[in-house]
Amino acid sequence: MTSETSAEPQVLGLLERALSAGCAASLRAAVKLGLADALGDTPATADDLAAAVDADPDALRRLLRSLTCYEVFAEDSGGRFVHTEVSRLLRADAPDSLNHLVLWMTEPWTWELWGRLDESVRTGKDVFVDLHGREFFDHLHVAWPESAAVFDLAMTQASRQSATAIAGALPLSGARTVADIGGGQGFLLASLLEHHPDVRGILFDRPDVVANADARLLDGGALAERVRLMPGDCRQEVPADVDAYVFKNILGMNDEDAVVVLGNVVKTARAGARVIIVENFVDDGPGQRFSTAMDLRMLLTVGGRKHTREGLLGLVERSGLVVRDVRPVNSYQHMIEATTPA
Ligand SMILES: C[S@@+](CC[C@H](N)C(=O)[O-])C[C@H]1O[C@@H](n2cnc3c(N)ncnc32)[C@H](O)[C@@H]1O
Repeated sequence: MTSETSAEPQVLGLLERALSAGCAASLRAAVKLGLADALGDTPATADDLAAAVDADPDALRRLLRSLTCYEVFAEDSGGRFVHTEVSRLLRADAPDSLNHLVLWMTEPWTWELWGRLDESVRTGKDVFVDLHGREFFDHLHVAWPESAAVFDLAMTQASRQSATAIAGALPLSGARTVADIGGGQGFLLASLLEHHPDVRGILFDRPDVVANADARLLDGGALAERVRLMPGDCRQEVPADVDAYVFKNILGMNDEDAVVVLGNVVKTARAGARVIIVENFVDDGPGQRFSTAMDLRMLLTVGGRKHTREGLLGLVERSGLVVRDVRPVNSYQHMIEATTPA
């Protein structure tokens, strides 16, 4: 074997990685076209699928060929396409669908940010404010309401993956009131209330997010009597008279803000109140390609991060909380249990 041929896998491997935006774009196109929904359990040709989703047959065949390289759909020996376990997750009607998460990861505005990653790495700060003149969440809700709606649906899909495991694992014995801070549309809170029938809940998030809360929490919903929807900015305030505060997947904002938010609990809550933080660590657990990429995206958007285990524990302690326990909730998420000082 010559040195030229032995270097080929590395060359190809590097070039594939450099062009991996093509994979992300293909996934986005599949969702936008409704490709996974158009393909049922019967194998279909590219021409059939092109007719079903109103696409150019040759271009659609090329898209499918690209996707099959990533186990998203497969081609059978007769040249027809079938679902794989991965492509089924793109179907809108799959109970564990990830279609909105795929859209959220690939929203058009994200591509411009990635192109400026070197600047963020040089400065250690986001590029979002420089590009758009406003903080990320403010801009998202004002300028891109459709993208904000995708975000809320995506977070609900992410919560759906783990809510039951988390609801069962949360140490809530003796707690009467739980507040989910930055709780999104409240899928986790609803699961918690269903799992703990004696507990009352507060869903705290930005006004336009709580306004579109899970139907179970809204007026007339099955859990509405036991829940308070509280719009607000947790950098300014958190609810009082709460036995347990939940922070799931929200402390990736920049560290100074995260300390302020947790510090607001120390200031507001009664002594010994529980604080339960659910996060995936960037240095622990499977899925590091995902969490390291998400870490960089958070740097670009909010100057934030996915924390290491030590980093997050340090931040919790800096805020004045007392760490009691750290344990896994499932294969990729951990729970930190802390309390306000006695
Ligand atoms: C990554 S999402 C996580 C949502 C939810 N906890 C979950 O795990 O699915 C972060 C959430 O924090 C909310 N959020 C961000 N900054 C906030 C702030 N300053 N005050 C209140 N909520 C905020 C966002 O609106 C969003 O719903």
